[in-house]
Amino acid sequence: MRSIEWRDGDIVIIDQTLLPARLEFRTLTDTESVAEAIRSLRVRGAPALGIIGGLGVAQAARRPKAANANALLERAEQAAETLAGTRPTAVNLTWGIDRVLAKGRAIPMTAGALRIAQSMVDEALAIQSEDEEACLAMSKHAQEFFQPRGVVLTHCNTGFLCTGGIGTALGAIRHAHESGLDIVVIATETRPLLQGARLTAWELSQLGIPHALVVDGAAPGLIAREEVSLVIVGADRIAANGDVANKVGTYPLALAAATAGVPFVVVAPTSTVDLSVTDGSAIPVEERAPGEVTAILGSQQIAPPGTQVINPAFDITPASLITAIVTEHGIARAPFGPTLRQMAGGGKTSRSHAPKPRAKAKPMKLKQRQTATRVTGPSKKRAPVSKRSKAAKRTAAPRRAASRKRVAKPVPGRRAR
Ligand code: MRU
Repeated sequence: MRSIEWRDGDIVIIDQTLLPARLEFRTLTDTESVAEAIRSLRVRGAPALGIIGGLGVAQAARRPKAANANALLERAEQAAETLAGTRPTAVNLTWGIDRVLAKGRAIPMTAGALRIAQSMVDEALAIQSEDEEACLAMSKHAQEFFQPRGVVLTHCNTGFLCTGGIGTALGAIRHAHESGLDIVVIATETRPLLQGARLTAWELSQLGIPHALVVDGAAPGLIAREEVSLVIVGADRIAANGDVANKVGTYPLALAAATAGVPFVVVAPTSTVDLSVTDGSAIPVEERAPGEVTAILGSQQIAPPGTQVINPAFDITPASLITAIVTEHGIARAPFGPTLRQMAGGGKTSRSHAPKPRAKAKPMKLKQRQTATRVTGPSKKRAPVSKRSKAAKRTAAPRRAASRKRVAKPVPGRRAR
């Protein structure tokens, strides 16, 4: 089963908003339905956004049958514009869109509309199968960070649902489990849209991997209490210096891991690396609707009417907190820049459809944010954390051994020894 399939001009997706209650497929027949599916997170996760972005452009090129090559490319460009505007943070989306568009433009006009459209479909399908291979390669490279009987904490959902293959971080977890390492997974619920509780817990149970769910706020404390031997996550965009944008809540996990001397590993294909962005401060962070926070999954209201909300969908983890970035080409460690350039330097097209960063916040929120920055300015905080991290790493091994014993009891589904 694949989470996205091309069926003779239709795009069929697993509707991720319905899981785990219902496993249902949805057929996307035009650009508007593809854009709606991306905005509402029916299809989500960086690699999947690259795949659907490419397929969406190819679909617009292919149907209805264009009178000539010019008309076809014009329609594909309009679709590219619409789709690129749906979500700003995961760079895979514009990467997939631009790659398919560039393929269409590279075919001589004299080849005719039919041939150009087919080459764009082929290119979009190539993105999907390349991602499938990348998932396998990443999962193998990442194995050196897993310990036998380790306790592995992950955030958001990074499995088959949001890639062309077995997943990124969750693919690596699956590989470790299938290799007989006897690991236990702690999945964060991932507020506000619960990708961890709804999707990761579902994938883990389908795979028969022992796991426990925790609320996001509990995870840093578990790491600090030495109950975790590895934190492993995916990414939505990796800057040239190794700063990583990922689901909001990733940064506190990285801080806790650095403080406790626990490895913090990011697994992502090179289609997620954006060398045009120098560091994380230039990555646009998507701000989503307040209703996602004030109500649980759009149904039960949990905050008083009129409550102001700040709802960034992602946060930025500085490279200084990251132990390793694993791509399909291998493992990058600090300083990340040279290795990332080597790994991702060749394959990028220009980001002609990259959306501009959105205005960050309304005036009242901005005032509050400025106050917060004055109190906990990032430049003052970062240096001590990385120093602590080095000191902590020196003593990490014996502490982690103790943690496995402690975690063995509370995690449901853990076999008695
Ligand atoms: O808002 P989402 O659910 O699309 O965010 C997804 C994430 O943050 C994932 O961790 C990331 O895209 C990696 S997916 C393999």
